Amino acid sequence: MRKIAIIPGDGIGIEVTRAALRVLECAKAKFDLSLTFTEFDWGAEKYLREGVSLPAGAVEMFEQEYAAIFTGAFGDPRVPDNRHAADILLGLRFKLDLYINLRPVVLLADRLTPLKNRTRTDLDFVIFRENTEGLYVNAGGVLKRGTPQEVAIQEEINTRHGVERIIVAAFEYARQHGRQRVTLADKSNLLTYGHDLWRRTFREVASRFPEIEANAQYIDAMAMLMITNPEQYQVIVTNNLFGDILTDLGAGLVGGLGLAASGNIHPGKVSLFEPVHGSAPNIAGKDMANPIGAILTAAMMLEYLGHPEAAQAVESAVSACIAANQVTSDIGGTLGTQAAGEAVVARM
Ligand code: NAD
Ligand code: IPM
Ligand code: MN
Repeated sequence: MRKIAIIPGDGIGIEVTRAALRVLECAKAKFDLSLTFTEFDWGAEKYLREGVSLPAGAVEMFEQEYAAIFTGAFGDPRVPDNRHAADILLGLRFKLDLYINLRPVVLLADRLTPLKNRTRTDLDFVIFRENTEGLYVNAGGVLKRGTPQEVAIQEEINTRHGVERIIVAAFEYARQHGRQRVTLADKSNLLTYGHDLWRRTFREVASRFPEIEANAQYIDAMAMLMITNPEQYQVIVTNNLFGDILTDLGAGLVGGLGLAASGNIHPGKVSLFEPVHGSAPNIAGKDMANPIGAILTAAMMLEYLGHPEAAQAVESAVSACIAANQVTSDIGGTLGTQAAGEAVVARM
């Protein structure tokens, strides 16, 4: 039996995780998977009650006993500085060294894109977001806080090791999945130290993959081109912050945050799977959230765990539900979160 940790978190994270867990239980039964699911109540409630965000020993427990972690979302208006979310989510990403944040952008039904005259063949790429460095490392400091002379410094960390391994992962993915092009997004025209490292490393890694076209773009241009010419993208590789922004943009191109899946991966190690969206306080507790992002995230996790047939069954059931409009209101249906999840289970 392999152990899977389930951390629903906050807000709609709890609702979509409930639906995704139903799908996982269904996949387990149908494909006779040797998986057990253990729930952890970490999130804003526990943090406010006990002052505990990521409990001591959690990282070691996951490393030693678990095959994967599934999370919903973290964020609560009662924790304005987002402390618990940073401790749990960023804590696990960093401490488990989950350097690949893999976020597919795939159009599951033509009607879901806000772009005119675009179809599935135009919108089908994956984003490799660096997940352990960049502006996310909390390096920097503040001087004279709260005074008119305040100085705030937030440093972006780019290491050769960190940059190289995410670029290599993107090219290896392209090679394994028959993709012909990898596109880098950086700002090397301005950030002449950190992003020059990205661009030099990109060229060097690309030379090891001669059959794959390497294309480098500036992030501002890409933000436009992703809307005007999305068909050019197959695999995108970028840093932590640009990846955060581009993946919400990508989600918007294919039907919204309610559909977007992601994996925080270190190949061969315990990895963490979470929908791209947050805790959405504006719709939390109303049975309105779209569970498909979480369900497709569960499919990614099944794939990672070596169960491609189960992952495929989940993805097919989701596509069938979208085609039949058995979905939530954000993508034009009338179902609630749990009913939309049950529709997927029924089709499986
Ligand atoms: P959000 O992703 O929670 O919501 C953005 C918008 O998308 C909202 O209008 C919301 O209603 C909608 N939306 C999101 N998921 C949806 C779904 N499944 N179905 C239908 N609509 C959906 O982002 P936000 O409002 O900027 O942030 C809310 C909180 O979530 C903040 O505390 C933020 O820090 C946190 N957050 C957490 C994660 C995470 O845990 N992985 C990711 C992003 C944001
Ligand atoms: C995401 C989220 C997180 C991020 C936040 C909650 C820290 O937006 O997973 O995309 O910026 O990585
Ligand atoms: Mn984000």
